[in-house]
Formats: sequence, C-alpha cells, structure tokens
Amino acid sequence: RSTPKPSSAASDVYKRQVWNTRIKKSSSLFQKLGSSISFDKRLFREDIQASIAHVEMLFKKKIINFKVKNKIIFGLNRIRNEIVKKKHKFDNKDEDIHMSIEKRLFEIIGEDAGYVHTARSRNDQVITDLKLWMIKSTNEIIKLLNISSKLIIKISEKNIHTIMTGFTHLKNAQAVSFSHYMLAYVEMFSRDKIRFKNNLKNLKENPLGVAALTGTSFDIDRNYTTKKLGFTNPTRNSIDTVSDRDFVTDFLYSASLCSMHISRLSEEFIIWNSDAYNLIYLNDKIVTGSSIMPQKKNPDPLEYLRGKTGGIYGNLFSMLTILKGLPLSYFKDLQDDKKIVFEAFDNLKNCILVMNEVLSNFSVNKKQMTNLTKQGFITATDLADYFVKQLRYPFRKAYILTAKIINFCEKNKKNLQDLTLKEVQKFEPNIKADVLKVFDLNVSIKSKKSFGGTSFENIKKMIKSYKRDLK
Ligand code: ARG
Repeated sequence: RSTPKPSSAASDVYKRQVWNTRIKKSSSLFQKLGSSISFDKRLFREDIQASIAHVEMLFKKKIINFKVKNKIIFGLNRIRNEIVKKKHKFDNKDEDIHMSIEKRLFEIIGEDAGYVHTARSRNDQVITDLKLWMIKSTNEIIKLLNISSKLIIKISEKNIHTIMTGFTHLKNAQAVSFSHYMLAYVEMFSRDKIRFKNNLKNLKENPLGVAALTGTSFDIDRNYTTKKLGFTNPTRNSIDTVSDRDFVTDFLYSASLCSMHISRLSEEFIIWNSDAYNLIYLNDKIVTGSSIMPQKKNPDPLEYLRGKTGGIYGNLFSMLTILKGLPLSYFKDLQDDKKIVFEAFDNLKNCILVMNEVLSNFSVNKKQMTNLTKQGFITATDLADYFVKQLRYPFRKAYILTAKIINFCEKNKKNLQDLTLKEVQKFEPNIKADVLKVFDLNVSIKSKKSFGGTSFENIKKMIKSYKRDLK
C-alpha cells in the first residue's frame, strides 16, 4: 500500500503540534499531563463516524470536492482498521484522539486531510463523539438491566409461596412473600431504565456544526449530519452546546441511583447470608475464602457491589464540581468528563454483570425463613385488623388491645400462634374461634390484596405484567 508523501511544509505542522506556528515551546510536562489520549482513544469509532458524516455534508454543500471527500473517507476507514488491529500509535504529543486521527489522516492522504476540520472545532467534535458513545452505552446498560429483571422474575416465580418476615428497622415486622420482596428490585431497575431512557432525549441532540462556540460562516447543513449520525435534531444555541455537560451529569446521576439499588440489594444479601440470619446460601461461585480462617466463605462479590457505589457517587460529584461556576463556553476543565463517564460506565456495567451472577447463584434457606417468622409477633397487625373487621373497633382501640395480648405472650414466653381461644377471650370475650386463623402466615399474606400488596394473587398478576413489559 502506498502512502502519498505529504508536502514538507505541511508535514512539519503535524510533526509537532498544529499550533506550532504560534506556540514555539510548550511544556513537555504539561503536554504529558494535559493529554487526554490515554482515555479518549476509546472514542475512535465515534470520532471517525462523525468525521465521515461531516465530510459527506461538506461535499453535499459543495464546501469540499468529490475527490477530497473520498480521499478523506478512505483515509478514515483505513485509520479505523489500523486502530482495531492495534497498529495505530497513540502519542501523548497529539493531545487527544481527534488530533491523533487528523495527524494520521495527513500521513495517509497528504495535505487534503486539512479539509476535514473545515467548519468544525474539537469543541463540537468531542461532544458529538461522546454523545454517540453514551447513546450506545446507555442502551447497553438498559439491556443488562433487563437481564437482571428477568433473573429476579425467575427467582420470584419459584418463591411465590416462600414466606419470610419483612422488616422495618431490620426488626421483624409482617409476613411477606419472598417473591414480592425480590420483585421490589424489579421496580427499582425499571425506574433506572426509565431514567436512562429519558436521558436519550438530550443525548440525541446533535452538537456537530456549532464549531468552537459561535457556529460557522460556512453554509453547512446540520440536519444532514443529524440524520446521518442518528441524532434527532441539531442543538439550538452554539454557545450552550459547547459548554453543556448536563447530559454527562444526567448519566452519572442515573448510574448513581442504579448503583445504589444494586448496593441495597447487596447489603440485604450480605445480611441474609450472615451466620446470624442464615436466610440464603451463596454458591461457591460467588464467595471467596480467607487466607487464615480455613472455614470461611465470604460474600466478597456482594461487598464489591456495595463498595463500587461510592466510586460512582464520586464520579457524579466530580462532574458536578467541575461544572460549578465554570463560565461559558469550552474550558480544559471539561476534558475530564470522558474519563469520569468511562469510569462510571465500566463500574456500573461490571456491577450489573456481577449482580446477575449473584442472582443466578444463590438459594433460599426456607427452613430458616420459617423459623424467623416465628419471632417478633409478625401477625400482630393482622390481629389488630381482625378486631376492626369483626368487632368494629376503631383501629387505635384494636391496636392497644393487641399490644396487651403481645405483652401477655412475652411474659408467658408464647408466640401468638400458640395462644388458645380461651386466652384471647380473657382480653375480649366477644372474640370467636376464627380469630386463631389470623396467626396463619398464609392467611396473612392472602389477605394483603390491596393493589401492590404481597397477596399471592397480586404477585402472580405482577409477574405476568413484568414479563409482558420485558418481552
Ligand atoms: N481533548 C479535548 C477535550 O476532551 C477536546 C476539545 C479541545 N478543545 C480545545 N479548545 N482545547 O475536552
């Protein structure tokens, strides 16, 4: 393959930096520190895609000629190939992925490469690339979350009749179906998906063509590049466009919340897996050992998930802090946006993958779940409700009467379900024998028929509806 020789004056330009005519000596320390290429090289596909759309538009608007357009596209395709095959040299001196590709284009096609940057700045280029990347990544997260929801639904289908105690303040509260408990997380992940989907609206506004900050004197067609790149409309104010990183914080906030949900699930599992609770078993796949205590099987992957949330919150706060008080329009401060987004994305993606492994590798200790329901008088509310329904008590009177019965049980070391009719009648002579049924956990759960409640019927309906949504 022959590479045309660039003219020597122009090749000098790319040998150093394009601004070398004005800036003779820049600090090599800052060249190294100020370069973003180590992380923004990840945008090479989007950069090339956007450049191709840009030159096609320039040609269509007769700003560049057919030959130049084709040469540039040929060169860009070749560079993509070189990068994929790891043949491209990323050099800190090129500052960022945009300069790196432009320089290589010059080596391949010569001075005509210089046309590619007509009516464009790196300021609009970089956010076009980043938005394209984030659209793709957002959809990837949504897909992974769909898998999580499907896994939870699978667990829930098997555990509709697995009864556990639900907690408030981590104290035994009322009986719930384990299925209902797990499906709570499907709701959280559905909201996460909605948040990520909502972000797509802003992400799909095309920044390309606003140039450095003012727009351009060239007769460009921003609608053309909008369509070509799969955006929905061009952004409407050039100054806002190059300054705006709201879409970055939206992503980071969504990632933070999603990660927080994962962290809460992890913490539940850690508690349930502890020797004190012993409500779930974790398969060997999702535990690690201790270097000193041979007996240990620790829930490290869950702790990993809980811990990573801190890092993702940090990403959100980094970005918010960088933006606070930053005047319009572009500043170098903004360059770190990509590093922050990539880190948050990688961590969130890994977290969802690990969580999905956890969801496929644990089982329920039903016996212990049943044991735990026997502590803490978890049918007390059912009993109070019974007094209201059967004896037309005001709820507060029923509550107090129930509390007295609990005091009696506690004093006599009895569970509610061990009470005899006679014992209950000592507190309220009008009580009938059917009162004893309220202590049956199945009856308790069945009775929670209000919309969104834990009744078996509701759960079955909800599972059907989630499955429909996920199809
Ligand atoms: N590497 C830069 C960034 O990521 C690209 C934009 C540079 N623009 C500029 N005027 N220095 O922010």
